[in-house]
Amino acid sequence: MAVVPADTSDTASAPGSSGSLDPAASARPLAAPTGARGLAVVTGASSGIGAATARALAEAGFDVLLGARRADRLAAVAAGIGPAARTRVLDVTDPASVQAFAAGVASCEVVVCNAGGALGLAPVAEADETEEARWRWMWEANVAGVARTVRAFLPALVASGNGRIVVVTSVAGHQVYPGGGGYTAAKHAAAAVAQTLRLELLGRPVRVIEIAPGMVDTEFSLVRFDGDAERAEAVYAGTIPLTADDVAEAVTWAVTRPPHVTIARMDLFPRDQASARDIHRRV
Ligand SMILES: NC(=O)c1ccc[n+]([C@@H]2O[C@H](COP(=O)([O-])OP(=O)(O)OC[C@H]3O[C@@H](n4cnc5c(N)ncnc54)[C@H](OP(=O)(O)O)[C@@H]3O)[C@@H](O)[C@H]2O)c1
Repeated sequence: MAVVPADTSDTASAPGSSGSLDPAASARPLAAPTGARGLAVVTGASSGIGAATARALAEAGFDVLLGARRADRLAAVAAGIGPAARTRVLDVTDPASVQAFAAGVASCEVVVCNAGGALGLAPVAEADETEEARWRWMWEANVAGVARTVRAFLPALVASGNGRIVVVTSVAGHQVYPGGGGYTAAKHAAAAVAQTLRLELLGRPVRVIEIAPGMVDTEFSLVRFDGDAERAEAVYAGTIPLTADDVAEAVTWAVTRPPHVTIARMDLFPRDQASARDIHRRV
């Protein structure tokens, strides 16, 4: 891939960050990959699991294309990776932004659909209009965002002859917990999309891998609770949660298996967690 230093990469922005969306900048073609393993695309790469995954994949020999809404955070992550990384601003809830993100990518080996998250913890029966809007965002980001990203990159994945789609779901994609209705519904749907894709892509050179983590110490809870740091910290109190690097290592291992091997789904828990609801705390 042509080397574009992080600080001169696409800097268009999307809702929730500074600047304005500039599809023309995002549409600049990417040159052919030069990394030994080809190109890996990571959505939601400005923090947490996505940033760690971009770093781990670059370390494993991939060129990496990082997408998220916050251009400044993307640039910082890319700068830490070095010349194998470039960035494009991306909002997976916006179809035009996803199209611009994928523009000019003729071939890619890996697409990690990681962008997403949770908003709020309101019981189903208490959800008001604000909560309904949050449910819609969670569906747009965690479900439609995955489908859009896959659609946009599928020709490039097939063209590589060895495509891998990674969908980062959650334990919330397979279990439920009180207050989690909007998020668990979205992640269950994301898991369904991953399984459906595996059926639909059977016979084509693309593997579909689902990674379903339990508690990971990232900005996830800070976002969920609107920046309330105390509430976010309480989620992990008295436990040793997974780190973003733990999940990144699992993603990297899964995508570097031989082409005939599909890691269909990997569930990762911290030792202190046995289900979405059963958490051992030392306090
Ligand atoms: N942390 C956990 O306990 C946990 C457990 C299981 C699964 N997960 C899942 O893991 C994934 C990564 O979360 P995380 O824990 O690493 O949390 P995080 O640190 O908050 O990272 C979320 C990432 O998604 C990006 N993002 C959010 N909305 C986006 C949008 N509309 N378009 C593009 N990018 C968007 C964010 O970047 P911008 O804000 O810059 O756009 C950020 O890079 C999520 O899908 C989450 O649901 C997390």
